Order: sequence, then structure tokens, then C-alpha cells
Amino acid sequence: MTDLTDRLAAGEELSDDEWRFLIEGDYEKQLLFYRADEVRRQYYGTDVYIRGLIEISSYCRNDCLYCGIRRSNANISRYRLAEEEILACCKQGYELGFRTFVLQGGEDAHHTTAWVEEIVSHIKEKYSDCAVTLSLGERPREDYEIWYQAGADRYLLRHETASRSHYGKLHPQEQTYLRRMECLRNLREIGYQTGAGFMVGSPFQRTEELIADMRFLQEFRPHMVGIGPFIPHHDTPFAGYPAGSLQRTLIMVALSRLALPKALIPATTALGTIHPQGRELALKAGANVVMPNLSPVNVRGQYSLYDNKACTGQEAAEGLAALRESVVAAGYRVAVSRGDAVQTE
Ligand code: 5AD
Repeated sequence: MTDLTDRLAAGEELSDDEWRFLIEGDYEKQLLFYRADEVRRQYYGTDVYIRGLIEISSYCRNDCLYCGIRRSNANISRYRLAEEEILACCKQGYELGFRTFVLQGGEDAHHTTAWVEEIVSHIKEKYSDCAVTLSLGERPREDYEIWYQAGADRYLLRHETASRSHYGKLHPQEQTYLRRMECLRNLREIGYQTGAGFMVGSPFQRTEELIADMRFLQEFRPHMVGIGPFIPHHDTPFAGYPAGSLQRTLIMVALSRLALPKALIPATTALGTIHPQGRELALKAGANVVMPNLSPVNVRGQYSLYDNKACTGQEAAEGLAALRESVVAAGYRVAVSRGDAVQTE
């Protein structure tokens, strides 16, 4: 096993059988997590970077079969934040010590190119020492360019699954794998620090799909990788499918750290949702970012991607003091900085 992890960290390609062994083989997983943690410390020491997550709209024109805010879900009440509300979140976040703001939302037709551009400019004017990350889904290349010019630094767009046939089972026909990949390539070319990522344990996912995800990461080399367990949402076609497992998700976090030693990898909210120690365990398995919720408290419950999504306690920006303590207890420390990736490839 250590031979495989060394080869992975050296950037080598592995065979199907080798990947299969790492993902589902019978070996001591603590060793894998320990190796991932060693690699993480080599580049990032004990720093954990924090991002203030502002969920700017729960309207979405997409219909992803797994997601609670899909357009077909008529059972949720939707909200959209106004610019002043977003700026108020940033103000509060800045005071708390956040130096990255992540504007995340469904693909909301009301978000015009100019509207987002203006908000990005305003945030960068007011908080020039902060990074702005956008996570607003698939848009024309031109939009990405305009927002980059306005000062946006990073963009998160999970690839969801690197298997084209699997992608087709998780999304309606009009949402295509090729389009998603094209957007990711555009973002990278424009100059964004680009984040990809996938769910673990999504319906119809086999080990083969996870191998494809790992090979995609090795090839695309995103700056950031978001990995969380699939969690069913009761108002979706996947309501009856089981959630992804903690252990399998931690394995994928650790393997991603080994494959991309310099990546920014969040301990995701979904991991914190399926297990009380999920986030801390992810930090110990190679993750180095946490993204507490900085949205206005009254809308938090409405951004319901999946059931029981955590948004209180240490998942909340106001819970930062408690989060700091648990990060320290896990053996790390929360850094007050933009927390850029160490690489500039
Ligand atoms: N379970 C876990 N993660 C989900 N996401 C959406 N729905 C779910 C779910 N049911 C993730 C997707 C998306 C991100 C914003 O949230 O990976 O990219």
C-alpha cells in the first residue's frame, strides 16, 4: 500500500487493479489517511483555511436528479439575496476573520452577467485583501471572463462524476457532461483557480466511476477539489437511495490529496452532516479548508441541497470560535489569510 501511495504522490498513473485496491481493498485505512496528512503538511503545514460561504440564491434552472433545489421541486420556498444583503454578509464575515468569500447559488436566470460583475467589483473594492470565489454553475465563457476581469479569483464547479454515462444518469438530458467539462476548461484557461469535485456514493456509482474521477483529477489538476457523500433529499427522484459512506468519502479525500499534493481540499458540509466528526476526520485525511455558512440566518434552512444539511454550530460563521477549537483539537490551526493554493502552474 505505501508503495502505491508513494507512486501516487510522485504523480504516477496507476492501473485499474491498483486503484481498485486503494479504493476498496482490505488494508489499514489509517495508514492511507496518515500518508495523506504527511503530504498535506509538507505544503501547508498545519494551516486550515476558512471560506465564508454565502448562498446567494436557491432558484435553479437545472434539474439534477440528486439535488433538493432542482427546478422540479415545487415543495421548497425559494429566496434570492439582494446585493446589500450579500455585502452585509461580507462585512460580518470580514469582522469574523474571513478573507475569502464564496458566492454560491443555483443557476438563477435573474443573475445577469452585469449584476454579478457589479457585486464582485464592490466586494473587491471594499475588501482588497480578500479573495472572491464564485460558484454559480455553467455560464457562457464570456461571463466567466467578465467576472474574472471584475476581480473574481476562483471558481468552483464540481464535475460531479467523470464518467459520461454516469453523468447521464444523474442529470436530465439537456445537462451534458461535455458542457460541464467545457466550462471547467474555460475557467482554467481564463486564469481562475478552478475547483472540481464529485459526490461519493451517488446512485449508480461503482468503483469504476471513482477511478475515472481520480484519473480526471490527475489529468485536469484542479486547484481545488470538493468531495462529499451523496445524501438523499426527500423531494427528489433519488429520495430512496442510501447516503454515501463516511469511510469511502475519507478514502477519496486522502487519495485526492496524494494525487494533488498542493490542492485546496475542503472538509465539506456534507461530511459534517453524515457524521458528527466528519469534518475533523477529513482534515486528518488530507483536507485543509473549511467553509462555514455566512448566509443570512433566516435563509439558511432554505438552501436545502439534501436532507438535514448542517448550517448551525461549527458549520455557521458565528460558530467560528468553536470551529477554531475543534481544528486545534485535531492538530491544526485556522489561518487568517486568503489561503491561495501554493501552486501557480
Ligand atoms: N448530496 C450531496 N451533495 C449534493 N450536492 C447537490 N445535491 C447533493 C446531495 N443530494 C452537491 C453537488 C453540487 C454541490 C453544490 O452540492 O455536488 O455540485
